Amino acid sequence: MRDHSYNIAIDGPAGAGKSTIARAVAARMGLIYVDTGAMYRAITLFLLREGVDVTDAGAVEEKCRKADVTIRYENGEQVVLLNGENVNPYLRTEEVSRTTSVVSTQKSVREKLKELQQKLARESDCIMDGRDIGTCVLPHADVKIFLTASSLVRAKRRYAELTARGESCDLEQIQRDIEERDYRDMHREVSPLTQAEDAVLVDTSDMTVEQVIGRIVELCGR
Ligand code: DC
Repeated sequence: MRDHSYNIAIDGPAGAGKSTIARAVAARMGLIYVDTGAMYRAITLFLLREGVDVTDAGAVEEKCRKADVTIRYENGEQVVLLNGENVNPYLRTEEVSRTTSVVSTQKSVREKLKELQQKLARESDCIMDGRDIGTCVLPHADVKIFLTASSLVRAKRRYAELTARGESCDLEQIQRDIEERDYRDMHREVSPLTQAEDAVLVDTSDMTVEQVIGRIVELCGR
C-alpha cells in the first residue's frame, strides 16, 4: 500500500494536446483528471465580471479574496464552481483565453490556486495538467511529462478545430497567437513554463493521440 496518492504532472505549451491526452490517460488508468487551466480561467471570468483591471496586482489580490473556486466531478468531467456557480460554459471564450494569460502572471492568483491544486493531489490519485505542475505545484509527482509540439503543428490542430466548428480563421494568425502566448507563458516572472529537470519530454508533432497515450501509460510503468 502506498502511503500517498499517485500523481502524474503534465505540463507544456498551449495546444500541445495536454487536456485530450490527460483526460484519456485518466480514464485508462482510473485517475482523476485535474485541469488547472480551467481554474485560472474561472478566476479570470470572475475578474472580468467584476470589471477589475487585471494588470493591477493590488486590485486583483483584493478582489480574489471574494472568489471561491472549487471543483466537482460529474460523470468523470471536471466542473468548476465559482462561488457555487457552474461556470464551465463560460471558460473557453476568446476574451477569457486572452485575459487568462495576463491573470496567470499574478502572484496572488497563483498562490491561491496552488493551494487548491495541492489539496486535490493529496486527496486523490490524479493526472494534473498545467504549466508549472512538475516544477512548482507537485515537485514530488510520481511521473512528470513535458508535452510539446511545434507551433505550426499546434496551429494546424487549432485551425482544424475551429474550421470544424464552422468558424473562419487564418492559419498564420493562429500560429502567431500561439507563439505570443508561449512567449508570455515562458517569460513571466512567477512560475514560468519550463520543463522540470526530471520530466520526460514527449514531442507529439509526429505522433497520433493513441501513440501519445500509450507512451505515457508506458512511462507510468503500467
Ligand atoms: O491550459 P489552458 O489553455 O486552459 O490555460 C489557460 C491559461 O492559464 C494559459 O495562458 C496558461 C495559464 N495557466 C497557467 O499559467 N498555469 C497553469 N497551471 C495552467 C494554466
